[in-house]
Amino acid sequence: MKIYKAADYKEMSRKAANIIASQVILKPDCVLGLATGSTPIGTYERLVSLYKEGNLDFSNVKTVNLDEYKGLPRTNDQSYYYFMHENLFDKVNIDPANTNLPDGMEPDSDKECARYEELIESLGGVDLQLLGLGHNGHIGFNEPADAFDKVTHCVDLQESTIEANKRFFASADDVPKQAYTMGIGTIMRAKKVLLVVSGEDKADIVAKAFFGPVTPAVPASILQMHGDVTLVADAAALSKIPQ
Ligand code: F6R
Repeated sequence: MKIYKAADYKEMSRKAANIIASQVILKPDCVLGLATGSTPIGTYERLVSLYKEGNLDFSNVKTVNLDEYKGLPRTNDQSYYYFMHENLFDKVNIDPANTNLPDGMEPDSDKECARYEELIESLGGVDLQLLGLGHNGHIGFNEPADAFDKVTHCVDLQESTIEANKRFFASADDVPKQAYTMGIGTIMRAKKVLLVVSGEDKADIVAKAFFGPVTPAVPASILQMHGDVTLVADAAALSKIPQ
């Protein structure tokens, strides 16, 4: 694992965007695996700037997102579809037909998960997967569990997640109760993984996930077994790793 220590969130975002940009420059028709959440917002902003400056061309890039709420229409501003369009897709020259997320409005979980897994395979797999890190070590919606989930699947959101997300909705009843997510196996099949982490509140989990035992109780710890992982984190997030 390569670890890049950035001074702050801004430098972390620039570094991560540069790594994604080099992937796009070296392979203009690459498949990017993308994440939502607060951490990659600065990375997407920087990618948009690189595009606007004429340094990056997304016209042949394909994307697959990690996850999506089940039962939330694309038009809902809390859907990951909405997030991706708002933060990246509508601001660069990517072909919308080349962008993919799990379809949250497909009620048949088995059908949707199989479709998404096959889609990733038909694209030739993910060249570079961008990930954020949850406070409990989750990646995508893969929460701590007894075993690693292999493929794209439907998860029941934990009560704590619903509670934490209800501020974004009219009421707790409106918060989706399920989500579709790539599995740990899907993520591990990506050729390269780029993880962005920021903030002191993530320092404990960074140390646990990357310097502790590999266990499904800390889903991100499996990344220790991947051959090409780059962690780009700010000094605060790296403050508890062994020197
Ligand atoms: C987002 C995702 C999540 C987030 C994680 C960290 O698509 O899959 O695993 O990466 O919850 O979120 P932030 O960046 O908001 O701390």
